[in-house]
Amino acid sequence: MGEAAKPENERRKFRAIKGTRDILPPATDLWNWFEKTARGVMESYNFAEIRTPIFEETSLFARAVGFATDVVSKEMYTFEMFELRELEYLGHLRSEIWSAEQRYKADDPGEVVTSLSRFLALANQALDEGKLARTPENQTALKELREQLNFFAQEARVSGDELLSWHWEDTGLALAEVDLGDSLTLRPEATASVVRAYIEHGMQMLPGDAKLYYIGPMFRRERPQKGRYRQFYQIGAEVLGTSDAPAIDAELIQMLTDLLERCQIEKYTLLINSIGCAECRPKYVDLLRAELLKPDIFSKLGADSQRRVETNPLRVMDSKLPEEQAIIEKLPKISEHLCEECRTHYEKLKRELTLREVPFTESPRLVRGLDYYMRTTFEITSPILGAQNALCGGGRYDGLVEMLGGPKGIKGIGFALGEDRFIDAIEEARKVRATRPLDIFIAWMGEGAYPTAVRLAHVLRVEKHRVELPAGEMKFRKALERADKLGARYVLIIGDDEIASDMLTIKRLADGVQEKISEEALVDFFRPPVLTKEGPGS
Ligand code: HAM
Repeated sequence: MGEAAKPENERRKFRAIKGTRDILPPATDLWNWFEKTARGVMESYNFAEIRTPIFEETSLFARAVGFATDVVSKEMYTFEMFELRELEYLGHLRSEIWSAEQRYKADDPGEVVTSLSRFLALANQALDEGKLARTPENQTALKELREQLNFFAQEARVSGDELLSWHWEDTGLALAEVDLGDSLTLRPEATASVVRAYIEHGMQMLPGDAKLYYIGPMFRRERPQKGRYRQFYQIGAEVLGTSDAPAIDAELIQMLTDLLERCQIEKYTLLINSIGCAECRPKYVDLLRAELLKPDIFSKLGADSQRRVETNPLRVMDSKLPEEQAIIEKLPKISEHLCEECRTHYEKLKRELTLREVPFTESPRLVRGLDYYMRTTFEITSPILGAQNALCGGGRYDGLVEMLGGPKGIKGIGFALGEDRFIDAIEEARKVRATRPLDIFIAWMGEGAYPTAVRLAHVLRVEKHRVELPAGEMKFRKALERADKLGARYVLIIGDDEIASDMLTIKRLADGVQEKISEEALVDFFRPPVLTKEGPGS
């Protein structure tokens, strides 16, 4: 069938999905240089690499990052692994569970009961229609759930918070027993995965702190723009162990500033803050919510912030809306409401940074968008980046290991940097050049020269030179043109004359100087550091 006769859909061109992109040579040289440099810096601080899967159970991210965060509620790539069951049902069932969780967090037990009753009705219907696996376990789980829900509904009417949270836990346990099939999510970040792996492999048994780093793609369904992608790359590091000494926080931050220095990025600001702990933060959040609910303030907030007053008032603090800035400036600052321990921790962090000569700016508005943080939060921004100016972000997450079912008393802190943005910043700073030119182009002519060309190409490659050997014979003039276009430094010429005289010709393209050498002298000719083998900093 001729091309013209093909149906339209067979001839259409495929393109990378919106928000994703191909990173091509020579840009990949800079990416590789950056990754190698980052590994070198992190290894000098005794971090070791961890590789975790790119997808995990959806509930891992939902629980660790938080149901109400933008990342979890709007941006995750989630797929359901169902067998003969119907996707539509699963979607409805899961969304009822999510909305029940959110309503519970928002202290609205009446709505929790409504959501869970809808869940039960749907699940029973699905069970009857054979769309939810009709296993004895599922039948028992739904019965148990109904009972727990009755208790919960009764308590919601009459009792105080404590009993209600007790019944909520039992209801949650019954809910978890209903097997809806697996829901999987492409990782939007890697801290949850690292903590999951730490727990799964009992890494608390290892001597000292676990100091882990990772490099890889993350996925968030955000609105794409410069510096913001749906598949983007992070390099991150996490420290997990029994100590929460501020020296750990400071050392982690110093590691980042070392990396910035190696990349010769000079224009950046390190912002730090403390967002308190389970002791002092809830009191501050109550105060903040009360302030935000004042009619003259609430009415001036945008729709997003109004919603967040309910779900997560702290996030109002990092709103970028120009019309909200004047209001936010006047809101109570968390730094003025820290408990004694948090205040001391924060003061020590600042002293530790000063000791390491790491300049910082305090930013009471730096609350970060993920729920697991407590105490230290930090970000590095750069004015050379434009709207998406956060090069990296991180903070402490002391309760997370326990929350995800791990041992008690394990503390954690970490950061992730946006590799896409670091690369932009390195390019903007124009100090690092990482492309490695082609060292040698082999111009061979004639059947007799070919075996020698193949052999010598291998000899030079073993010596770690970058060598191009054309697969087919080329006319001399064409070969020189090609070598020039590829940016080769030398052309190794092997023709009938060279074979007959047992001498090779080497031409330096920069000045056209040509010389003859014997095959024995070839390796030594290229051995002195006339060639740049790696980019700077390696
Ligand atoms: P995050 O602030 O969500 O933190 O992301 C860290 C960095 O990843 C950002 O500062 C930014 O440079 C980059 N980034 C985030 N989203 C995008 C995107 N859509 N396109 C391009 N770059 C992006 C975390 O992910 C935490 N896990 C960091 C952490 C580790 N905290 C403790 N340990």
